[in-house]
Amino acid sequence: MNVHDPAGVRLQKVLAAAGFGSRRACEAIIDAGRVSVDGQQVRELGTRVDPRTAVIHVDGLRVQLDDSVVTIALHKPAGVYSTMADEQGRPDLSAYVADRPERLFHVGRLDAETEGLILLTNDGELAHRLTHPSYEVAKTYVANVEGRVAKGLGRELARGIELDDGPVAVDRFTVLETTPNASLVEVTLHEGRNHIVRRLLEEVGHPVTRLVRTSIGPIRLGHLKPGRTRAVEGTELGRLMSAVGL
Ligand code: URA
Repeated sequence: MNVHDPAGVRLQKVLAAAGFGSRRACEAIIDAGRVSVDGQQVRELGTRVDPRTAVIHVDGLRVQLDDSVVTIALHKPAGVYSTMADEQGRPDLSAYVADRPERLFHVGRLDAETEGLILLTNDGELAHRLTHPSYEVAKTYVANVEGRVAKGLGRELARGIELDDGPVAVDRFTVLETTPNASLVEVTLHEGRNHIVRRLLEEVGHPVTRLVRTSIGPIRLGHLKPGRTRAVEGTELGRLMSAVGL
């Protein structure tokens, strides 16, 4: 089967539009054999495809070709409510995407006082899967907590802790810093219940004084400053889509 469509758009142009770098960089990706169209590896730089129908993968990860579909990472500051239109007029997420033409919705919530990574998208299927328990991706938080965390707490948290609404177990727990009165810890878990990290750490005697979400599946907060956004595209978006079976 020939995937070349003479009436289509050059593959390197399609990939550049999807966030894989300059056309030159996309030519190198094609030349290296990293691209498939409709299941077939394509190394011909002259290949044209129909972006409305072609199924393109780079390094085995699906490429979103519809440029009206956008996904954005926001570093939500503390004090901002995770809604697009707060009924009481408190600070909400809408201000951070006010200049975008798309109608975006947020994927899940952070507590008002929790900072860090929240995703906004107009991709309904992606949002649905990211919040659905059967796909729920791992999320990582960095927490300042009261007290010196004892050795062995990680094992206890990995075995599971009973909360009022059922047990919770962490995937990973790392102590980043400790002083006699406080600790900085990193927690990874697959959970969407309300205040789950605060409740979990409080239950084991370490109330949280500051909480920052640093990743959602393969998407990292990185150096994004509070109140700033960036597009999630290219390989990063492909990894996120793969994490929820898209
Ligand atoms: N866990 C919490 O306690 N708060 C959040 O905002 C997210 C996870």
